[in-house]
Amino acid sequence: MMKERPKTKILVDGGDPAETEKIKSLLGFVDGQTTNPSLIAKNPEIQQRIAAGQKLSTEEQHEEYKKIVRQISPLIGDAGVSIEVFADLGTGSDAMLAEGREMFSWVPNAYIKYPCTHEGLRAAQVSVQEGMRVNITLCFSQEQAAAVYAATVGSKAPVYVSPFIGRLDDRGENGMDLIQNIQRMYKAGDGHVHVLAASIRSTDQLLACLALGVDLMTVPAKVLEAWSATGLSIPDKRFTYKGVDSKGSPLRPIPYKHLDLSKPWESFDLKHDLTTKGIERFVADFERTLQQPKHIA
Ligand code: E4P
Repeated sequence: MMKERPKTKILVDGGDPAETEKIKSLLGFVDGQTTNPSLIAKNPEIQQRIAAGQKLSTEEQHEEYKKIVRQISPLIGDAGVSIEVFADLGTGSDAMLAEGREMFSWVPNAYIKYPCTHEGLRAAQVSVQEGMRVNITLCFSQEQAAAVYAATVGSKAPVYVSPFIGRLDDRGENGMDLIQNIQRMYKAGDGHVHVLAASIRSTDQLLACLALGVDLMTVPAKVLEAWSATGLSIPDKRFTYKGVDSKGSPLRPIPYKHLDLSKPWESFDLKHDLTTKGIERFVADFERTLQQPKHIA
């Protein structure tokens, strides 16, 4: 149990309510939860059905996702449960928005996750105008985070942006620099976008997020358990992050860019190959559980 709550809100990154309950007993609280299509595909009940040879129809998959989200929703605090729309590279903003609206009605504390693409941001822009809470996922650059800010100005609820640390680290770029650069850039803003550090795979990344005082971090249960085994310590600001890439080599710094948050969101460069790969990976993981996948054999 944590004696003192950190400034950073702690979310469980997963798709299994039993895991969320376990972490809640370990820490004494869970502020929120993030889910994604890959994590939902790994849910034990869905895995059991797949192992028994029962692949799901699209409707069944949708109902399973809703059921899981409804089990998680009452277990968590005010950071809400993030639910991701099923977008492939060809999905337009209208289709994402229609799905987002439906998912938003599942639970009273939903955050709708849209990918950090032109279509995703267009859907997010309309969503916040309609009073929905959103989480923009698969963010890998400061430009993308600037666009998230500009597209959602005026949102009544905090908007989340999810920069992915681990996937940048994997390929040798210091994901923690991206977090710091976004925090620095947002200091010039009105505070409506909150940084939700995602893709955390190690206790070092978790500790670095706490030391930076990020608004929120989403962490897999196994990393939270590893942190708990070391006493749930909270480092001070002097903590230095010594991340390495997937081959164990030191990470390259990501330089800060001066960007003007008052520019139209469409003027920022939204392209990032990891965003594209991320969408492809979510679609592939999701479709592996389906009877009639559209994209993979
Ligand atoms: C959460 O919102 C993200 O989908 C998640 O943290 C991604 O983590 P991964 O890069 O380990 O898949």
